Amino acid sequence: MARVMIWGLNFQRLNCFEVLNPFFFCYKPLMKQTTHTSQALVSRLTGALRGTVTPPGDKSISHRAIMLGGIAAGRTSVRGLLEGEDVLSTVAALRALGAQIAKEGDVWIIDGVGLDKLQEAAGVLDMGNSGTSARLLIGLLGARPFTSFFTGDASLCKRPMGRVIEPLSQMGATFMSREGGRFPLAVRGAGAPKAITYRLPVASAQVKSAVLLAGLSAEGTTTVIEPIPTRDPTERMLRAFGAQLTIEKGEDGASVIRLQGRPRLTGREIIVPADISSAAFPIVAACLRDGSKVKLMNVGINERRAGILCSLQEMGAIVLLENEREVCGEPVADILVRGSALKGVTIPASRVPSMVDEYPVLAMAAACANGTSRFIGLGELRVKESDRLMLVADGLKACGVAVEIEGDDLIIHGTGVPPRGGATIATALDHRIAMSFLVLGMATPEPIAVDDGRVIATSFPNFTTMMNDLGAKLG
Ligand code: S3P
Repeated sequence: MARVMIWGLNFQRLNCFEVLNPFFFCYKPLMKQTTHTSQALVSRLTGALRGTVTPPGDKSISHRAIMLGGIAAGRTSVRGLLEGEDVLSTVAALRALGAQIAKEGDVWIIDGVGLDKLQEAAGVLDMGNSGTSARLLIGLLGARPFTSFFTGDASLCKRPMGRVIEPLSQMGATFMSREGGRFPLAVRGAGAPKAITYRLPVASAQVKSAVLLAGLSAEGTTTVIEPIPTRDPTERMLRAFGAQLTIEKGEDGASVIRLQGRPRLTGREIIVPADISSAAFPIVAACLRDGSKVKLMNVGINERRAGILCSLQEMGAIVLLENEREVCGEPVADILVRGSALKGVTIPASRVPSMVDEYPVLAMAAACANGTSRFIGLGELRVKESDRLMLVADGLKACGVAVEIEGDDLIIHGTGVPPRGGATIATALDHRIAMSFLVLGMATPEPIAVDDGRVIATSFPNFTTMMNDLGAKLG
């Protein structure tokens, strides 16, 4: 009973208590979560930024490369993998499930174990800060006939998992979790997973991917109906590994994604482009500093991810694509940015899926722009690594910006000059909140500090060095 109370579990609601009883016997490892010592980081007013850099590898593609490589037959080699903490959580999980993963020089080599030979992990799978690792692996393991235990850091333990628990339960998985479907969580994978048709109730690539990864283990066709297009690395990579996956337009305009279950997946070579979500930080920083000229090399510009470029261009930013090409089936370009005079802009809700992670940094641009910006329909930002809507608004106010939240909309009144700055921002274990305010601090007369710069290693381990190489003053 004491153990139950430690985890705040409401087991009266849980009829699978008997089945998942072993959950309570592993409470010790559950408590052994990664210790995180925070370290403040300060950003000071910077001159023009100049130089050519390659941002780190795409986080979404990196996760999928490790997961699909891990369940494929044979060898997968990955160049340009993001070696951020989020992806390393996925690497650790796949190793615990039986895949052989090693780094040889710059290349990650994965010797896949095969879907049917994935084995029950001996301990708890610690997803750290990574919602993508968590939701995609719940999908994959929710359709394997063994029990898996998941935990994560304080940020991940607050995030809703109900959105994947719901379709996975329809496929036959059983779950035990904290109140509201929150981590720590145990899943007993379905012995004979059912192929379902699932219409996404929320525009989420993570939910879509969880259902498709579970569908790999099901007999027959798993169908995901996607009314609003979200990023598509899962679909692209499943095809590249040999799965039969089709995408058609339904009568109502929604995408209908059909996956044939039980495919033979075969290892392959993958080259990961740079992540546009990470590139967004030097891009906005360069826009904000007069005389800047920065080139970002090999950046993925998949149209389902590139909303930030279009939004900045609408604000008057000089952002040019050069040398557009295709690498490993993904559109890639070099991006040239110059210091630009920005104006306020209204970003419609329809753009959220193509730049869902870039609103915090775009808000920094809006805070320096001339006129009012309105970002419409940001409800999903409340359930990211932090409540980004609230933290962005609070942090900007502390820096002297006039900001309002109306429902799910963020309204920022820019004056055409950077705000005062001079605040310390609470990052709440959110890497993108930390990097966004550090970018703003490059333009404000008074420095901006973040209470915890270490969280940046989640997605952009060399952020400080790369920005300082361009001329920033971070330290
Ligand atoms: C991701 C999907 C997005 C995004 C996250 C990565 C992915 O989340 O915010 O950083 O790799 O599928 P949602 O699917 O919850 O929108």
